[in-house]
Amino acid sequence: MHQHRFVVQRLDAGRAKNPWPFAAVGVVLILGAIVLLKPAPVAAPTANATPVTFAQVKTVLEQRCYMCHGEAVQMKGIRLDNSAAVKANAQGVFQQVAVTRQMPMNNSTNITEEERQMIKRWFESGASVE
Ligand code: HEC
Repeated sequence: MHQHRFVVQRLDAGRAKNPWPFAAVGVVLILGAIVLLKPAPVAAPTANATPVTFAQVKTVLEQRCYMCHGEAVQMKGIRLDNSAAVKANAQGVFQQVAVTRQMPMNNSTNITEEERQMIKRWFESGASVE
């Protein structure tokens, strides 16, 4: 009889305890789970790791585009032989070289796949002409 009453009192005492420490532990566990489940940052492929400089792009344009978009010949009124003109036509250059691949026309100047990717990365990272 005495023993039974003792147990009931213990249970009541336990229930009346401050619940906040338990809630706090729960929050910490949930935050911990979020941190653990967060996907690790995907490592960029090495090809994208090095930023493309305008100097590199300029070399490509010089070798593959100036012949038709330079001082002597300006197909469709487009020149690509100075930085202001390249900046003004950056979107078109990207489109023609990396998306539709219409340029260089018939690839008469033998642009390489690496060079197309270089133009793409240059444009996507802000098309700097500095
Ligand atoms: C053999 C000559 C030739 C070469 C080389 C050449 N282009 Fe062109 N490009 C043209 C011609 C011709 C047009 C006009 C095409 C048309 O109107 O359909 C043109 C048009 C363009 C246009 C405008 C497209 C439009 O419709 O708005 C861009 C941008 C361009 N070229 C970029 C380049 C770039 C960048 C290169 C070098 C990677 C290059 N071109 C190499 C002949 C050339």
